Formats: sequence, structure tokens, C-alpha cells
Amino acid sequence: MSGASLSRHQQSVLRELGIDVWRLRQPSSDAVAGAAAPAAAAAPEPATTAPAVPVPTGAVVSGDWDAVNAAIRGCTRCALSASRTQAVCGVGSRQADWLIVGEAPGADEDRQGEPFVGRAGQLLNEMLRAIGLRREQVFIANVLKCRPPNNRDPQPAEIDCCLPYLRRQIELLQPKVILVVGRIAAQTLLQADKPLGALRGKRHEFEGIPLVATYHPAYLLRSPTQKSKSWADLLLALDVMAGKA
Ligand code: URA
Repeated sequence: MSGASLSRHQQSVLRELGIDVWRLRQPSSDAVAGAAAPAAAAAPEPATTAPAVPVPTGAVVSGDWDAVNAAIRGCTRCALSASRTQAVCGVGSRQADWLIVGEAPGADEDRQGEPFVGRAGQLLNEMLRAIGLRREQVFIANVLKCRPPNNRDPQPAEIDCCLPYLRRQIELLQPKVILVVGRIAAQTLLQADKPLGALRGKRHEFEGIPLVATYHPAYLLRSPTQKSKSWADLLLALDVMAGKA
């Protein structure tokens, strides 16, 4: 919560409620309430596994698409900001009915600033084409907006720092269906610790929005025999979209 435009009374009420009141160090037109303060012009810290700055996990992000993107690009909530080439906000139609959620940018995405542009992305495009969708018709985002070094799994603290951005993207998009690809995205949005095999193949909900989980395209590239299960998940998602499941 930004403290910039709040009265003293409002700030003390928020403090009573346990909501952190944030102050911007420098005024910025790109600032998003609740987002981390802009990075100071200091040398980047070396990448560590701990958060770079103490950030209240789950700090709410608000604002419109452009404000959210600006906040993501300037984010220093966790140490991944020090090792990224650039943050990867998301891509696609802001009017899309479909939201595709992956795990985190890889090397190609980190370089190009767009999710799912590598080999896994090409397979994702094919999967979408198979159900009659072009990439431009959906919105694609990740749980983490910055690349974990060596493509390691996201750490829980990193997810806590980054998830509010995806939450805000979902609020703005209001998709009719969310297709999550891979274990990390499925477990994160479903707050589950079951393996993906136990989460796929069913209709779930994320805050009232239908959600279907399927295998990550990178996994399907390594295990093509699982593609038939993923196809079944895509058909389920189509049924959900048509109100049949
Ligand atoms: N894998 C993901 O989960 N997301 C990307 O953007 C690329 C690869």
C-alpha cells in the first residue's frame, strides 16, 4: 500500500489492520500501489537465494496493465532481479478468454522479454493451434517474472514475492479459463502439493475462475508419450470454455 496519498488517520487504520504502508522514495508515474520501491541507482547485488530486500510477502499490486508492467520491470522484490536480463511481464490479448500460466522465464525468454519463445514455447503454440487458438488470442504469463539461475525451480519466497503480479494480471484480464502448464504453476495457483498427475484431468477453480492443469511443454518434449494426456486436458479446457464441464 502506497503511503503517498493516504491521510495520517488512513495510514494508522491500515497499520491497525496489519497492512504495510509503503512510501515511495522518489515520485514515479509508473509506480504501482503496493509494489516495491524503484531500485536505487546502486551496483546490483550479487544473486543470492534470499530476498534482496525485506518485502511483505503477498504485498498487493494494483493499477492498470501499464502500471503493472512498469512495476514488474522495475521490481526488486527478490534476488532474481539482480541476475535477470529483463523481467518478462506477459504477452497476448488483454481481452483474451484464455490465460496460460507457466512457471518462469528461461534463457530465451530472459533474453527476448517474452514468455514461451523457446522450444517449449513452440510446442505451446502448437498445442494452442490444435484447439483452434492463435498465440495472439490468448494471454500468456508466468508465476515468476524473472529467470531463476540455471532454470532451477522457483523458491517459495520468490513465488511469494512475485505472485501478486500474476494475481493482478488475472484481475485485469478476467479470463474465462486458466490453463496452467506444469507442476509449479498448478501447485501455486491451486495451493496444492500434489504431483501434477493428480491435479491434471479435472476442472478446478482459482478464485471462481475455471482452471485446468496440464503438463509443461518442456516436459512433453522430453516425454512425448504423455502428449495424449495433455491433449485430453486441452479438450477438457475447451469443454470448460463451452460450459460443458
Ligand atoms: N517455461 C515456462 O514455464 N515459461 C516460459 O516462459 C518459458 C519456459
